[in-house]
Amino acid sequence: MELADKVIVVTGGANGIGAAMCRKFKAEGARKVVVSDVDAVAAEKVASEIDGLAIPCNVADEAQVKHLVDATIETCGRIDVFCSNAGITVKGGLESSNDDWQRMWDVNVMSRLYAARAVVPKMLERGSGYLVHTASAAGVLTEIGSASYSVTKHSDVAMAEWLSVCYGRQGIKVSCVCPLGVKTDFLDEDDAIHRYLHLHSITPEDVADSIVEGMRQEHFLILPHPEVAEFFSLKTDDYDRWIRGMQRLRQKLTREQAKQDAA
Ligand SMILES: NC(=O)c1ccc[n+]([C@@H]2O[C@H](COP(=O)([O-])OP(=O)(O)OC[C@H]3O[C@@H](n4cnc5c(N)ncnc54)[C@H](O)[C@@H]3O)[C@@H](O)[C@H]2O)c1
Repeated sequence: MELADKVIVVTGGANGIGAAMCRKFKAEGARKVVVSDVDAVAAEKVASEIDGLAIPCNVADEAQVKHLVDATIETCGRIDVFCSNAGITVKGGLESSNDDWQRMWDVNVMSRLYAARAVVPKMLERGSGYLVHTASAAGVLTEIGSASYSVTKHSDVAMAEWLSVCYGRQGIKVSCVCPLGVKTDFLDEDDAIHRYLHLHSITPEDVADSIVEGMRQEHFLILPHPEVAEFFSLKTDDYDRWIRGMQRLRQKLTREQAKQDAA
């Protein structure tokens, strides 16, 4: 899909990858970019930069997502592309609280369901539409430092796959973006695992470029870090060997972190 003249909604559009997507979509000639975020002030700032429309929305709340879709259609006439990009992370494994797991589930997964429920029927009526999910490489591989991030990002990939399988023949395209480290507020320089991700980190603008190219070619999987394709195929070729490699990596990184904490 070419983005010229398209009406595009981006959740989590006020910062990081989402803000870079908004700017890139505008540069590609989008008719209107709706910058949506729980941070209304920051959303307004990005929208004013690109002659966009800011609509505040907490994606974990279904009524707010429905309002975002309805208000966009009322103002702009249609939605061509809906980007479910907003996401959060919480570090930790089994000890993470149920409240944290629930928050991760609501923001990283249920938000995608709420968006699809609200927008897919409108796209089906028009016979076309494009859904973009910003998942993560953690959704096809894993994120050693966060169980809830790994699980919710796998779920996001599953949701995107399911949407593509069920609606692809009715004109709805789906892309699932799976970056490794990206230089945004997400990354914590004091954390050994995050520093490891940083070794491969790229800018949000690199991710936005890759998304536009991936959408142009209508690829399901968009991998701004090409090495993720290689890691993913190592995983599917020999799952046990891949798990052993990840166990070794985890041991190395947790030892590094322990040394750093002791210093
Ligand atoms: N930065 C990375 O290394 C990285 C790597 C892979 C995937 N991702 C994914 O990219 C997406 C964007 O992350 P980012 O790195 O740009 O982070 P970011 O923190 O820079 O931006 C996230 C934006 O989402 C907004 N947001 C958070 N909770 C929200 C909610 N409930 N409703 C609406 N908006 C909300 C924030 O206000 C913020 O503007 C996320 O889904 C993240 O999981 C990030």
